[in-house]
Amino acid sequence: MAETVFTYAAPGLKFGRGASAEIGFDLQQLTRAAGRPRVLVVTDPGVAATGHPARIAGQIADRGFEVTTYDRSRVEPTDESLEDAVAFARDGGPWDAVVAIGGGSAIDTAKAVNLLVTNEGSLLDYINAPVGEGRAPTAPLLPMVAVPTTTGTGSESTTICVLDVLALKVKTGISHARLRPTLAVVDPDLTMSQPAMVTASCGMDILCHALESYTARWFAHFDAKTPEQRVPYCGANPIADMWAEKSLSLLAGAFRTAVRDGDDSEAREQMALAATFAGLGFGNAGVHIPHANAYPIAGRVRAYRPEGYPQEEPIVPHGMAVSLTAPAAFALTFDAAPVRHLRAASLLGGESGAAGPDALPSVLRSLMRDIQIPNGLAEVGYLASDVDDLVEGSLQQQRLLATAPRPVTADDLAGVFRGSMEHW
Ligand SMILES: NC(=O)c1ccc[n+]([C@@H]2O[C@H](COP(=O)([O-])OP(=O)(O)OC[C@H]3O[C@@H](n4cnc5c(N)ncnc54)[C@H](O)[C@@H]3O)[C@@H](O)[C@H]2O)c1
Ligand SMILES: [Zn+2]
Repeated sequence: MAETVFTYAAPGLKFGRGASAEIGFDLQQLTRAAGRPRVLVVTDPGVAATGHPARIAGQIADRGFEVTTYDRSRVEPTDESLEDAVAFARDGGPWDAVVAIGGGSAIDTAKAVNLLVTNEGSLLDYINAPVGEGRAPTAPLLPMVAVPTTTGTGSESTTICVLDVLALKVKTGISHARLRPTLAVVDPDLTMSQPAMVTASCGMDILCHALESYTARWFAHFDAKTPEQRVPYCGANPIADMWAEKSLSLLAGAFRTAVRDGDDSEAREQMALAATFAGLGFGNAGVHIPHANAYPIAGRVRAYRPEGYPQEEPIVPHGMAVSLTAPAAFALTFDAAPVRHLRAASLLGGESGAAGPDALPSVLRSLMRDIQIPNGLAEVGYLASDVDDLVEGSLQQQRLLATAPRPVTADDLAGVFRGSMEHW
């Protein structure tokens, strides 16, 4: 029987310049502990250097809280880095609330911390099967406020925590409705200091969240689920569509400007809105091929080090990794939903005359070139001989591939990777 039900869930949201100054007050509404409730602020070294976490921690303390800051979140968390954060939090607890300040890396670190200071067991118990046990938390989590400083992931609205399992060289996640933050505080002022390449890469993440959720398999084209089987991601649906369409229009107006001129506060604000909208959409609909491919592209990096990111270790940042196979992926999915692909291209400002499978990919290539995303997988260090390996990594992301609007075979993926070596 076909599915007839879709679902929508979201955290509370406070959006706008100056919103981050009110977090102390917000925490007073969210915590019930008597005396001086204890708040753990989670951030990363790059974000800590902007001074925002220290300012926000001070404002929270002024409202009568005891505040401790963990500032060692790893850019793109690993099992090791999350275990370090969890050990710090378990040693220093108990806590009454968690506040994450940073990009997806700090927010996802805080989600893992929140899970494991409230629930027994280890990270591996909760990581999605087959890598982990896929256990569901049994105890409620602490109130969590998520404060994004990048315009990208939407992690402040979603139920997932993404991590790299080092020994297995796979990126995977923990996903459960209880991981969704209680309140998202999106203050565009905090995003102004993002380096240009962080703005470009994170912006491509927004764009792919919107495009993939908009072109995802329609919720009613899945088999009917029991209430126990429902997951936060239910496929494209009328509510998620609304968020995706609006996000695409905002990106069309602001993305190039925000990368070119980071001081343009108007463009920064539009990007923050676009990231929030895309997060609220894909956080309920899901994403598909470009995100599935991003896992092996990021996980098997050899030597690539983009400017604007920490230089100690090679990295293909999440948004960049997602974008590199997006043009070829949307050429592959075109036939499954032509109207949606064309509408997306037109919302992004593509030429109204372009009507074939290349309409959306050509808009993407032109944008990626303008904002200086690498010209394909070859530029970040992959060779044609890596394709089989990349396909194998992508095939492990069955949950994402099942959200694509058409069946995806190993040959399809090989074609997408081969077609993504060089874009222009
Ligand atoms: N949970 C989710 O729903 C979800 C969705 C997409 C991606 N992710 C994950 O999020 C992570 C990527 O997060 P991201 O793209 O937001 O970037 P990030 O958190 O990794 O940060 C990127 C870099 O920018 C710096 N930075 C962040 N904000 C800054 C600011 N305002 N000023 C100056 N520097 C700043 C950081 O210190 C870091 O060096 C990946 O691990 C990815 O897998 C999670
Ligand atoms: Zn993403």
